[in-house]
Amino acid sequence: MGAHKFWSTQPVPKLGEGPPLEDGYIEPPKTPDEVRQDSYPLPEDFEWSMVDISDPNQTKEVYDLLSAHYVEDDLASLRFQYTSEFLQWALKPPGYHKEWHVGVRVSSNKKLVAFISGVPITIQIRGKVFTASEINYICVHKKLRSRRLAPVLIKEVTRQVHLKGVFQAIYTAGIVIPTPIAVCQYFHRTLNVSKLLDIGFTYVPRNMTTAKMIRIHKVPDTPTLDVRPMEEKDVVPLADLFTRYMRRFDMVPVMSLEDVRYQFLSGQGTGKIGEEREGRRLGQNPQSHKITDFFSMYCLPSTILGSLKHKILDAGGAEEDGRLKARLQTLIGNALVIANQAKLDVLNALTLMDNVAILEDLKFGPGSACLNFYLYNWRTSKLAGVTDEGDVKAGRSVGVVML
Ligand SMILES: CC(C)(COP(=O)(O)OP(=O)(O)OC[C@H]1O[C@@H](n2cnc3c(N)ncnc32)[C@H](O)[C@@H]1OP(=O)(O)O)[C@@H](O)C(=O)NCCC(=O)NCCS
Repeated sequence: MGAHKFWSTQPVPKLGEGPPLEDGYIEPPKTPDEVRQDSYPLPEDFEWSMVDISDPNQTKEVYDLLSAHYVEDDLASLRFQYTSEFLQWALKPPGYHKEWHVGVRVSSNKKLVAFISGVPITIQIRGKVFTASEINYICVHKKLRSRRLAPVLIKEVTRQVHLKGVFQAIYTAGIVIPTPIAVCQYFHRTLNVSKLLDIGFTYVPRNMTTAKMIRIHKVPDTPTLDVRPMEEKDVVPLADLFTRYMRRFDMVPVMSLEDVRYQFLSGQGTGKIGEEREGRRLGQNPQSHKITDFFSMYCLPSTILGSLKHKILDAGGAEEDGRLKARLQTLIGNALVIANQAKLDVLNALTLMDNVAILEDLKFGPGSACLNFYLYNWRTSKLAGVTDEGDVKAGRSVGVVML
């Protein structure tokens, strides 16, 4: 695992450390004058820059950096391509702080070469509630890698978070560093078989043909449930349903009505289905009844590297709700129909919440990657992710979904 020269200096549990006697912080909150006032030094020729996400030009700069230098799969054949619109939505939830959008520029030409961000989140873990920063989108230009810039970015965003009186953070990473509180595995539900075969994302298993694979993965043309897109009038009942359902899990976000409106309603875009692009934006069903179940998904394209035929892979991320396996299965079966109508190529899911129970039946296959969940300055014992933990079944602890 290496010495972890940086992480060994931070308030995070050591690798291999046993479960804590009690949940709580590792170092106490700082008073305002204990927080460092000046920014951390950067290597010569670089300067800090607060990136203004309200400015489309600056969001485009973040987009340009991430789309060329952000997360790739192990084989470097796909790279996440978060759109500018998505970043603007993800980085500006209710109560966001512009100071938590931290960039590094080349002093001479002001080119953005590194980025890290935080957004506020209220987390409840095993009954304890605290405000934290959700850290995401750390990225260093490929030419500046392995120069210990990442620790400086992390320290600077931590300082900015401390300046707002927040002393905990949550983050996820593919790599293992001190110390995961949960490990979840990615699963993928193939929708566009031919395209995923073309780009090598999936393969035809032995004793199967492409035609059979297409048949197996076919989803119905229309939903079987009376599903419709969320509307403003659903905010209150949906928030209530969400809060009640999430009690099943040990680590969950606590959402105000404003948060629910923002996270589940505001990202829908505008206009009618198909206006911008085939299948995107849903038609609405005028006969609305009581909200009994809901699911949400988001679209995250990837750039396909080294393929002349396909340029973008469209993937969705899913969260689920429902009480029994059958109900969940029907619900997410309908989510597949909608994802397919929206021309997504694949629907991704993690082994969290109640997903494990339904992944196999809905023909999600295990991916090669895991996602590790981390907490900064908070101790709690391991949460059930890809495997059971004590009496808790796999997945059943984690209710936080990171974008
Ligand atoms: C992640 C990234 C910013 C790290 O930068 P780098 O130049 O490779 O690493 P540096 O030499 O600056 O720093 C290494 C230190 O940062 C830590 N680190 C690297 N990636 C990290 C991550 N995703 N989260 C937290 N810490 C990380 C390392 O563990 C190491 O600290 P240690 O010695 O205590 O273990 C860079 O590789 C990158 O932009 N990758 C593509 C985007 C990406 O993967 N982002 C992370 C998404 S979770």
